[in-house]
Amino acid sequence: MTKHFDEAYRILAANDRGGYTVPTDRLYPFQWNWDSAFVAMGFATFDIDRAYRELERLTEGQWADGMIPHIVFHQPSDTYFPGPDVWRTSHTIPTSGITQPPVFGMALRAVHEAAEKAGTENAKARTLALFQAGLKWHRWWYKARDPDGTGLVALLHPWESGSDNSPAWDIALAGVPTTTDTAVVRKDTGHVDAAMRPRDEDYRRFIHLVDTYAVCGWDPVKQWEKTPFKVAEVQTTGILLKAGEDLEHIAKSLGLEAEAQELANYNDLTHKALLAQWRPELSRFVSRDLISGEDIEAPTQAGFIPLLGLDLGGGMVAAAVAEMKLWSNGMKVAFPTTKPFVESWEPKRYWRGPSWAIINWLLIDGLNRNGQPDMAEALRVSTIDAIEAEGFAEYFDPTTGEGCGGLGFSWTAAAYLWLSRKERT
Ligand code: GLC
Repeated sequence: MTKHFDEAYRILAANDRGGYTVPTDRLYPFQWNWDSAFVAMGFATFDIDRAYRELERLTEGQWADGMIPHIVFHQPSDTYFPGPDVWRTSHTIPTSGITQPPVFGMALRAVHEAAEKAGTENAKARTLALFQAGLKWHRWWYKARDPDGTGLVALLHPWESGSDNSPAWDIALAGVPTTTDTAVVRKDTGHVDAAMRPRDEDYRRFIHLVDTYAVCGWDPVKQWEKTPFKVAEVQTTGILLKAGEDLEHIAKSLGLEAEAQELANYNDLTHKALLAQWRPELSRFVSRDLISGEDIEAPTQAGFIPLLGLDLGGGMVAAAVAEMKLWSNGMKVAFPTTKPFVESWEPKRYWRGPSWAIINWLLIDGLNRNGQPDMAEALRVSTIDAIEAEGFAEYFDPTTGEGCGGLGFSWTAAAYLWLSRKERT
């Protein structure tokens, strides 16, 4: 056991670039948004100061309008495409122009509670500053990405979902042209097997979207009008709701009543909107393509992430759990990010089937919240076993358990530390 803890610490130390952690060397050489939130929770289990630092460095990239970008380019590197010259944003520290799932609020609560427990110096002031950044970001989500006040937030780029290459995007992405103003010079396929990465054609669509938004000067109102890709998404909205609850909890504990009320209002609205995305015939939640007005029925893990922020009634929980068991049945490592054996299922290609420790982490929390401790425990143990067998890979082939993608991955190390924290204390 101890051997793996040491390895997890070593990976986080090796990926440290000065108060922030890169996801892995070379393939992802900058600070990524939701990766850092998971990493901060990993640090919270043994180094609270460093946990705060991770979040503080992420907020250095926050835009004036409140958005926290998906990448902060603190230092240059030529091993990744698209870099700052493609994004053409205007923040002082170069950043990308899109965002990622707001795990930040969940991380802040975890770090804050660990600090309170340990009696860490300055904890309250550090929490307060980060809370203000988190609140600003949640306001941005509701204003920029839900201008009609539906309670569901929309993504304007598949990369904003964190599940970049998911079959959930196939239909919506097919409507995005493959033409680009920017030369597409992929770097990812120089680091890992092309069979595990997105297709070239889709890469051109990803860059088409970046070009479109750069021409809008990254103005959210113009982007909302011009975009050919707009999806009200349940994984991100489920995370937003849970993070919103966590920020509300922090606001109350800091005596910030107006802020707590503001967050409670957002959370109520989103709670209702997410529940309306449940589809009994599919036993899961579905996203909506706002361009076509259609439900997105592709069977992906996103359909179960809302458990994280909802307390479902018995019938719904039983149906969701039965469906999750069906997907996991016969898999060496759950939880597959695409339903096994459907046409789009590819157990090694990223986000089209593989199991990810951080997705399992979110599902485990959702299952525990909804009174399913046995299934949560089985998933926790299987995640830990997979890492111990194969190392700290980016993700795992669910059929064989093989570690795939990048190696020495920060969020896999963080997930390992977090999910086994009870064993260590
Ligand atoms: C990939 C993943 C994304 C992650 C990033 C860095 O792009 O799809 O979720 O944040 O790698 O690990």
